[in-house]
Amino acid sequence: MYQVRSARLLAENVYETWIEVPHISRNAEAGQFLVLRIDEEGERIPLTISGLDGDSVRIIFMTVGTTTEKLAALKAGDAVLDVVGPLGQPSEVHHVGSCVLVGGGVGIACLPIIATALKRAGNRVIGIIGARNKDLLILENEMKEVCDELIITTDDGSYGIKGFAAGPLKEICETRPPDAVWVIGPAIMMKVTSGVTQPFGIRTFVSLNPIMVDGTGMCGSCRVVVNGETKFACVDGPEFDAHQVDFDLLMSRQRFYHPEEKESREHYHSGGCGCGGNH
Ligand SMILES: Cc1cc2nc3c(=O)[nH]c(=O)nc-3n(C[C@H](O)[C@H](O)[C@H](O)COP(=O)(O)OP(=O)(O)OC[C@H]3O[C@@H](n4cnc5c(N)ncnc54)[C@H](O)[C@@H]3O)c2cc1C
Ligand code: FES
Repeated sequence: MYQVRSARLLAENVYETWIEVPHISRNAEAGQFLVLRIDEEGERIPLTISGLDGDSVRIIFMTVGTTTEKLAALKAGDAVLDVVGPLGQPSEVHHVGSCVLVGGGVGIACLPIIATALKRAGNRVIGIIGARNKDLLILENEMKEVCDELIITTDDGSYGIKGFAAGPLKEICETRPPDAVWVIGPAIMMKVTSGVTQPFGIRTFVSLNPIMVDGTGMCGSCRVVVNGETKFACVDGPEFDAHQVDFDLLMSRQRFYHPEEKESREHYHSGGCGCGGNH
């Protein structure tokens, strides 16, 4: 069992939880993820390792279904059954010069740990973080601390620049092209935003979030197509060259289990265990 050190609400439906997992906190690198299972009946879910502190790791997650809702209900002193990791390949962190990190919604959770690693490697780091509105924006202060410059966008203009993060990213590419860019958020946001850097020939990484089950390359559920080749996001990724990813396939595979996920959530809210309703 792994104890929850602290848990709090960061924004509407977005939670920050620190869990004591020494085998991960001592070995994890930027860009990696963990897979956790809350209890015996629970589903295994992958979450990005969003921070490290002593023996603890931070996860930041949005409640979208049964398991994330159960996770959100955990308080300091509670425990989760299994935490496996660190999994996946670390971010490609080198001294390249200047980097732009773009985060959308809960995808912002992935950025501080990558920004810290890039700064340590001697890069200048510009952050662009975007949300639908001011209340949904997370980790502004943390990103301000680690980045050399931080740009904020909101879709509705309630804070920062009105519009999507793609706008300021395009302006930066035109006026002071960076050497590498990371774009992390919902699949459609990564597709559109990473498209901005393509005409400029700027190396761009995205962190893919297909359905994962084992997280260790055994089940094949996280198949993605990159540069025409099948890759397993859990072992070959989750970060890939954005300009080579088949995003349309990723998005169609993400929708594959929607009926079962809906059934599980309805069962959970009706007082069931959240397993899908078969008992
Ligand atoms: C490498 C990786 C890192 C991730 N990091 C984060 C993170 O830091 N914060 C965060 O909020 N979310 C993250 N996700 C997505 C997160 O795993 C899903 O939101 C979670 O599994 C949903 O489970 P659920 O039971 O609450 O919802 P469900 O009702 O099961 O599903 C809701 C939606 O979540 C997605 N999903 C469901 N099961 C999985 C699964 N096993 N693997 C991947 N996606 C799934 C599907 O798109 C689905 O439509 C990450 C996904 C991957 C692959
Ligand atoms: S999650 Fe099973 S192969 Fe990647």
